[in-house]
Amino acid sequence: MYGLVNRAVEDLVTNKFGPDAWAEVKSRAGVDIGMFVAMSPYPDAVTYSLVGAASEVLGLPAEQVLEAFGEYWMQYSAREGYGELLDLMGNDLPTFLAELDDVHERLKLSFPDLVPPSMSVSDVTDASLVVHYRSDRAGLAPFVVGLLRAAAARFGRTAEVTVTRSRDDGHDHEEFLVRYLDA
Ligand code: HEM
Repeated sequence: MYGLVNRAVEDLVTNKFGPDAWAEVKSRAGVDIGMFVAMSPYPDAVTYSLVGAASEVLGLPAEQVLEAFGEYWMQYSAREGYGELLDLMGNDLPTFLAELDDVHERLKLSFPDLVPPSMSVSDVTDASLVVHYRSDRAGLAPFVVGLLRAAAARFGRTAEVTVTRSRDDGHDHEEFLVRYLDA
């Protein structure tokens, strides 16, 4: 994945647990890269190793690290110059998510090797919606859970997100139920 993603992992670990924790994470991950270049692609294995090592060093399940990372991504990408793009994605959660594939597509101008996921929404009501997530990558459902909670929070909503279908159970993609707790 692009260095921007690895930099966000670095930022999260460093801000919450300090630079020593990050040094330990990199060392455990066997990652010998001083500084990630945001616009350069790195093998996915680098990101997965960093998340695995962060889970060991911080004593948290990998799912929890990925969820926290998903929540962090929204503020990190906004801070790194993509805030306006996020603002243009609509004024409610279903619209925002429906725009996401187009946004990642547009981002290919800056990140030509981007391999983005695909998201769509269905069953939209005032109280909930279903999100369909398709990816070439495995194991990122907890990341999406964090992303969806953070996306709801952008619109002042508190959401509970559960994985209702998974490739682990033989489905061809993941489905998430997003229920507003403040409906
Ligand atoms: C506008 C700000 C955003 C930027 C700059 C951005 C950029 C990226 C980049 C660079 C990757 C790594 C993929 C690769 O390197 O091949 C990625 C992956 C991903 N992005 Fe975005 N993204 C943005 C917003 C979002 C939002 C708002 C969501 C969801 C609500 C999202 C969902 C994902 C997911 C789930 C992945 C993991 C890839 C996968 O599942 O296969 N992104 N994005």
